[in-house]
Amino acid sequence: MMFTGSQKATQFTESVIREMTRLNHLHGGVNLSQGFPDFPASAAIKEAACAAILADVNQYAVTWGTKGLRDAIAREFTRRYAVSVVPDQQVTVTCGSTEAMMATMMALIDPGDEVVIFEPFYENYGPDAILSGATPRFVTLREPDWSFDPDELAAAFSNRTKAIILNTPNNPTGKVFSRAELETIAALCRKWNAVAISDEIYEHIVYDGASHVPIASLDGMAERTVTINSLSKTYSVTGWRVGWAISPPALTGAIRKVHDFLTVGAAAPLQEAGVAALGVADSYYDELARNYQRRRDVLLDILRRRQFTCYVPQGAYYIMTDISGFGFPDDVEFARYLVTDVGVAAVPGSSFYRHAELGCTKLRFCFCKKDETLAAADARLARLAARV
Ligand SMILES: Cc1ncc(COP(=O)(O)O)c(C=O)c1O
Repeated sequence: MMFTGSQKATQFTESVIREMTRLNHLHGGVNLSQGFPDFPASAAIKEAACAAILADVNQYAVTWGTKGLRDAIAREFTRRYAVSVVPDQQVTVTCGSTEAMMATMMALIDPGDEVVIFEPFYENYGPDAILSGATPRFVTLREPDWSFDPDELAAAFSNRTKAIILNTPNNPTGKVFSRAELETIAALCRKWNAVAISDEIYEHIVYDGASHVPIASLDGMAERTVTINSLSKTYSVTGWRVGWAISPPALTGAIRKVHDFLTVGAAAPLQEAGVAALGVADSYYDELARNYQRRRDVLLDILRRRQFTCYVPQGAYYIMTDISGFGFPDDVEFARYLVTDVGVAAVPGSSFYRHAELGCTKLRFCFCKKDETLAAADARLARLAARV
């Protein structure tokens, strides 16, 4: 007997980003596609994880997260942004922010509900919408500054709108939404009684004096915002899979139920290590941003020398580029050529768009890599320059 995937599963493809990583392994290239650091996490955080295992923190934690970690998450959010968070009523620890987003959408959305999504978007949001039954309404962020047209955004909202997904600092564009832009979004959420689901996983990675504003900190928004975050990017532990959602108390029960039946809980010893991570001094975050700004400037220099047009990111650790000068038919062909013939993996721009034509002149590179890795990419890209 032949089996096929479900209707839902056939509506989206394998992650292009993870496919590029696999192709890169095959061709022995330099991987600037998937956003994971190739340098170590801090010793103190790793030691906290080892200590937790040796202390036999090896069984299920409370399904919505250990008290210690939930307290630390609430404490840090309040300390940073002056938004009060009651850990028992508002924090759910999940398997990465990936699960936090999925659990939130499944908890919130009924079939036919509409969800506003800015494009280009982090590629998971597309399948998240399909799996949760949401009908996505896309609003375009336009280069060079990735601003949106307030009228286009207003037109995407209606009484069918359940939520808007926001990601600031933004992957793939590096945009950091300004307070004024967030006020525009917040006003529409209040007008249409919609929830803001805000993915703030790059909150500490901002450049050139930009500052991160959580939409939950705007007037009247804490009661209609789910803030999503994780240890992955801030502490360079993307493989640990510990994330969280901070939600208004009225939504927490639904999110926790979905989370419980999806995964039961995040790794217990790594939640202990998360308490140590969230307890680091502020100088850790200053250094994180400073280090990434330096790496950003290194990659910008490389890409510009190799004839890419770059959109300078204000945050996160990606550079979107324009590749129209290279004369390839589209971004996917160019990305395949780059990984197989040149030996550098990057992500085709169209994988961040529902309207693929908007991304077919773009390619995304990441710079969360060691200096040697960036230098190796530079050397490989010399082959490309020779061809141009
Ligand atoms: C915007 C954004 N959200 C979520 C994730 C996934 O995060 P996690 O490792 O916490 O699941 C990523 C990873 O690249 C991302 O860029």
